[in-house]
Amino acid sequence: MAIKKVMVIGAGQMGSGIAQVCAQAGFDVLLHDMKEAALDKGISTIEKLLTRAVEKDRISEADKTSTLDRLTKSTNLEDAKSCDLVIEAVVENMDVKTKVFQQLDEITPKHAILASNTSSLPITEIAAVTNRPDQVIGMHFMNPVPVMKLVEIIRGLQTSDATYQAIEKMTNDLNKTPVEVNDFPGFVSNRILMPMINEAIYTVYEGVASPEDVDTVMKLGMNHPMGPLTLADFIGLDTCLYIMEVLYEGFGDSKYRPCPLLRKYVKAGWLGKKTGRGFYQY
Ligand code: NAI
Repeated sequence: MAIKKVMVIGAGQMGSGIAQVCAQAGFDVLLHDMKEAALDKGISTIEKLLTRAVEKDRISEADKTSTLDRLTKSTNLEDAKSCDLVIEAVVENMDVKTKVFQQLDEITPKHAILASNTSSLPITEIAAVTNRPDQVIGMHFMNPVPVMKLVEIIRGLQTSDATYQAIEKMTNDLNKTPVEVNDFPGFVSNRILMPMINEAIYTVYEGVASPEDVDTVMKLGMNHPMGPLTLADFIGLDTCLYIMEVLYEGFGDSKYRPCPLLRKYVKAGWLGKKTGRGFYQY
């Protein structure tokens, strides 16, 4: 069954980006959010990004218009009844996600694939609340979605080969590069990235070097485009802590112990760029 119509749930940072790339690739897209205001903000962000792409000659005015024509707002989850694929990008909370998947299992046609953009929650557990665990899969896009080429495709324990292949094709159609990953804490991306960020925080905590110097070492010495502490501030220190907790709990290994300085900053409300203060001030 070919994927033609897609619903993206959650019009936040990730959901609006996913809706944009799907519409640009020619799919009919319903962008759903429970908040009308979030939907309006999501659509206006997409409009701004497309306008900028026209100004930079990356797409034509006609491409922009046809992309926007393929995008429809939805505040009613029942609209998913006409979709071949649903990509969920609501808040990172297991209770909220499982409730959405239970409802989708009731609403969507039997052939529909249900995907989650979760960055850390187990796909196998999300799949288990549905009657179609073989058609549930992780599609982990990177932020910002229109720019980043990677999609980690997460196979839950029961994900079928047919589901994997359909999502692999879809990812290629979006002009992204798929990587096949089995369902383990942190998948590949966060299992490698977050311990590096956590270690960078330890080097500051232990007085080895200042945040600026740690970032300079990784930028100029390792050719990273951005230092790990700057990156942590962009991701959000609360998110970094949450993912370290997932790794620590999931593997039960002390090498994933979140740095006490990370906990302290999060307790202080220093969450990075979004709150104006993290390892740097904004
Ligand atoms: P966000 O907070 O920007 O957006 C979430 C949206 O979901 C909000 O507009 C909210 O109104 C809506 N929402 C919440 N519950 C809902 C429900 N039950 N039904 C419909 N809409 C609902 O969050 P963001 O950053 O876009 O993250 C979304 C997901 O993507 C999370 O699972 C996150 O872990 C994952 N992710 C985030 C990345 C990031 O860099 N922010 C990177 C990769 C994955």
